Amino acid sequence: MMQPLALIVAHAQNRVIGADNDMPWHYPEDLKHFKRTTLGHAMIMGRLSCEALPKALPKRRNIVVTRNANYQREGFEVFTDLDQAIAAARETDEEPFIIGGGQIYGLALPQITKMYITEIQKSFDGDAYFPEYNEAEWNETERREEGDLVFRCLERV
Ligand SMILES: NC(=O)c1ccc[n+]([C@@H]2O[C@H](COP(=O)([O-])OP(=O)(O)OC[C@H]3O[C@@H](n4cnc5c(N)ncnc54)[C@H](OP(=O)(O)O)[C@@H]3O)[C@@H](O)[C@H]2O)c1
Repeated sequence: MMQPLALIVAHAQNRVIGADNDMPWHYPEDLKHFKRTTLGHAMIMGRLSCEALPKALPKRRNIVVTRNANYQREGFEVFTDLDQAIAAARETDEEPFIIGGGQIYGLALPQITKMYITEIQKSFDGDAYFPEYNEAEWNETERREEGDLVFRCLERV
């Protein structure tokens, strides 16, 4: 039995999640969905995604993974190993969230049990991508369409 570990992402039709360490779109309804879904949870992110944020997000544990053992940033807990970060997150949260970016999604995917995916029904130019996954390994448990966006929740079969 896998221990719960969630992921949240918004990706474009061509799997793009970012460009120049930013998101190449602005969908306020997706930001609200992100906030609602992650509030109260421990969130784990890569160092580049951390630096894409203006500051640590309130009312959530902000955990960053970097190979730089000296890295420090106000409001962020720093780990040099993803599994250590996940273990620390689980001390306070039975279902922590992986919140990106591309490198960290790829590393964490084999351990992920639930994915909150916002599919943007458009393609964008970018330089960071959501990894390929096999839809057959996932059950869709929620689906809501709103304009260009499809909000999905997938649980591992
Ligand atoms: N659309 C979305 O939902 C979404 C969500 C999050 C982020 N994003 C976007 O994604 C992009 C960033 O993604 P990214 O793939 O470039 O970077 P990332 O995954 O956010 O961070 C990469 C960094 O994580 C650290 N890292 C990677 N592997 C590691 C390991 N095995 N052990 C320890 N540390 C490790 C390294 O930090 P050091 O270099 O410090 O060692 C690496 O540079 C941005 O454009 C951002 O806006 C989009």
